[in-house]
Parts: sequence; structure tokens; C-alpha cells
Amino acid sequence: MLSGGAAANLPQEIAALGPWFHNLHLPDGTKTAPDHFLGDFPAFKWRELGPHLPQDLSGWRALDIGCNAGFYTFELARRGAHVTGIDVDPHYLAQARWAARQFGLEDQVEFQRMQVYDLARLEEKFDLILFMGVFYHLRYPMLGLDLVAQRVSRLLVFQTLTMPGDEVYTETYDRSINDREMMREPGWPKMAFLEHHFAGDPTNWWVPNHAGVEAMLRAAGLQITGYPGHEIYLCAPDPDRPSAVSTWNAAELRSATGRPWQPAGDHDL
Ligand SMILES: C[S@@+](CC[C@H](N)C(=O)[O-])C[C@H]1O[C@@H](n2cnc3c(N)ncnc32)[C@H](O)[C@@H]1O
Repeated sequence: MLSGGAAANLPQEIAALGPWFHNLHLPDGTKTAPDHFLGDFPAFKWRELGPHLPQDLSGWRALDIGCNAGFYTFELARRGAHVTGIDVDPHYLAQARWAARQFGLEDQVEFQRMQVYDLARLEEKFDLILFMGVFYHLRYPMLGLDLVAQRVSRLLVFQTLTMPGDEVYTETYDRSINDREMMREPGWPKMAFLEHHFAGDPTNWWVPNHAGVEAMLRAAGLQITGYPGHEIYLCAPDPDRPSAVSTWNAAELRSATGRPWQPAGDHDL
């Protein structure tokens, strides 16, 4: 049984909960993954992103999707937000719950084992959603993004693995069926599909290019308001361009998420 108390043997508890993907800096200075292959991850990402988010998040409800061991969950909680962290992997959730006790943040954070697709069954909206490092792990990425975008009321932070290059080809509006050559342009929105393992991980499925990320965020009803760092996009709901899934195409999203979609009385059509 892991105690989490003051007299706990931290190195032993950290080892028992490993392996770690988040290098958490515990209150006494102990680190959970000091030899991380990416360096001091994700602290170096937070140094880019943190200044772009409100310093005072008191009264904000935040959702950290794919929270892992909760690094970002805890940073938002320290700014006053009440944060729900969700992840599919119980191994990481155990780390996050343990770390919440180490930081004394249990009252401000909660962790739930959920798939991003389970957001289809939530009515709640969140002021701030972090959707970082998850998109490319999804077999159904646009479905995931649509569901996430429907649950955010103020700010979304989106981060994904991307293809190299930052070209954006803008002449994409309603082209003719004979205009397909231009789709080979580097800046045409696109995603590479990973049929086999990538970086040793079978859960890596899709890698979009920068133009593709921007196009999908817009198509999900979001406007891009900032670029805090490499592959990180700050977004807000775009009242002038809501997603098709909230207007003419709501039925497809409902159907894709196992919810009744036909208007009452249409069942025999
Ligand atoms: C690359 S890590 C990113 C962790 C953290 N968000 C970050 O940016 O450092 C991906 C995390 O997403 C979780 N994950 C993968 N697929 C998921 C899904 N369908 N729904 C929720 N979490 C998922 C994994 O278990 C893992 O903790």
C-alpha cells in the first residue's frame, strides 16, 4: 500500500508506480522521471504554454484529456481551477491520484478513467480544456476533436504530433473534381496514416500537417487565437462559424456516438 504520507519512502513509491511519462517535481524536489528521453518533460512545454493562459483560474472548470500523471492538471489547479483529468490508462491514473496527495491538491482535482469519446455522454461544458498529446493516438481523430470542441466554452489548448513544415495552402474552397493535383501541395490540409507501429507505439495512428490541424480546428467550430509553442494551438469557440455538428450535421455525430439521431416519427423512413 502506498502511503503518500510525510514519512513515505518516495523513491520506492515512485519506482512502484513506474514507468513514468511525466517528470513531476514533487514538493521535496524529488522527480518522478529525471532521466526522461525528452528532457524535463513536460515542464519545458509548460514554460511555453503557461504564460498564455490566465494566471488566475479561480472559478474555472477545466478538463485535462489524456492527463497521464497529471502534470498539467496540477498546474491548472495551482492557478485556482477545479480540474478533471481523464485518461484511458489506469497505470497513469494511479500515478496522478498518488501525486495529487503528494501536492495536497486532492480537493481541487479529480481523475476518471474515460475515453475521449465518452465526452459524448457528458452535458457539462468546461471553461478550459487541454487536449494535448492525444489526437494522434485516436483511431477516430475528427470524432474525438468534434466531441472535445462541443464541450469547451472559453479556451482549448490543442497539441499534436505533426508532419514537418508550416506551409498553408489557402485555395481550398469548393474546388472542382478535376482539381485534385493541388492536394499534393505541401500546404494542402492532410494527415499521414500510420498503419504499423510508429516510434514503437501501435496507438499512434495519424500525423496531420500544420495546415491540416488548422483546418480541422476550424471545422470543429474553433478559431485559433495563438501559437504558444511548437505544435501547440490555442483556440476558442468561433461564434461566427459553428461546427457543422452543432448545425446541419448533428445527426452524424449523434449516430457515430451511439445516440438516437432520427427525429421522432422518422424511424420507418
Ligand atoms: C502522449 S501522452 C500525453 C499526456 C499529456 N496530455 C501530455 O501532453 O503530456 C497520451 C495520453 O493520452 C492517453 N490516451 C490515449 N488515448 C486516449 C483516449 N482515447 N482517451 C483518453 N486518453 C487517451 C494515454 O493513456 C496517455 O496518458
